[in-house]
Amino acid sequence: MKKIAPSILSADFSNLAQQIRSVEMAGIDWIHCDIMDGRFVPNITFGPLIVNAVSKITNATIDAHLMIEEPEKYIEAFAKAGADYITIHQEAVIHLHRIIEQIKALGVKAGVSINPGTPVSTLEEILQYVDMILIMSVNPGFGGQKLIESTLDKIEYLDRLREENGYKYLIQIDGGVTAKNIEKVSQKGCDIFVAGSTIFSSGNITASAMELKNLI
Ligand code: DX5
Ligand code: ZN
Repeated sequence: MKKIAPSILSADFSNLAQQIRSVEMAGIDWIHCDIMDGRFVPNITFGPLIVNAVSKITNATIDAHLMIEEPEKYIEAFAKAGADYITIHQEAVIHLHRIIEQIKALGVKAGVSINPGTPVSTLEEILQYVDMILIMSVNPGFGGQKLIESTLDKIEYLDRLREENGYKYLIQIDGGVTAKNIEKVSQKGCDIFVAGSTIFSSGNITASAMELKNLI
């Protein structure tokens, strides 16, 4: 299953419903919500309130990417808000296995993300438990950055580990994905492609979303 997950980080929030409709017109059925607390990353975005608003706008799969410290305090609120996937950062938690189980106990799919500077080896003990691994291909905090090429090796490695061990996780990439690099990322074994500025700052949301969808 290969999916485009538009990140509303780059959307026009004064017209959020219309912007989401525009990606839906391209047949997109995932929406990526970038949650930032100004502590784990140097930016502040939004919380469960907006995720709940998105859940009222669309039936798309809501993918909440928590770039926050102490995510364990907020997973219930995001689950209640309508998140279908909750992804936390390996770097932000002490008890990674426990929080994965807590997310799943809420009936939500559990994802774990690592930053460009964090090795995949830090995830090896939990790969059998997670529903998705999110590889950050930029340093988190802002949209519109350039994809860091070396992070693609992590996708290839995770795809191989999945194959060799029969793991079931989806592989997701987030940051700097465009029509120019998405085919290469897909060939590495990626399943879910987060794209923000290349869609919402393109001038034609539906066409740019459709273009990405046709390339994977
Ligand atoms: C970074 C954010 C961005 C966003 C995608 O913290 O997570 O990666 O989703 O942004 P673009 O697609 O504009 O790089
Ligand atoms: Zn994200």
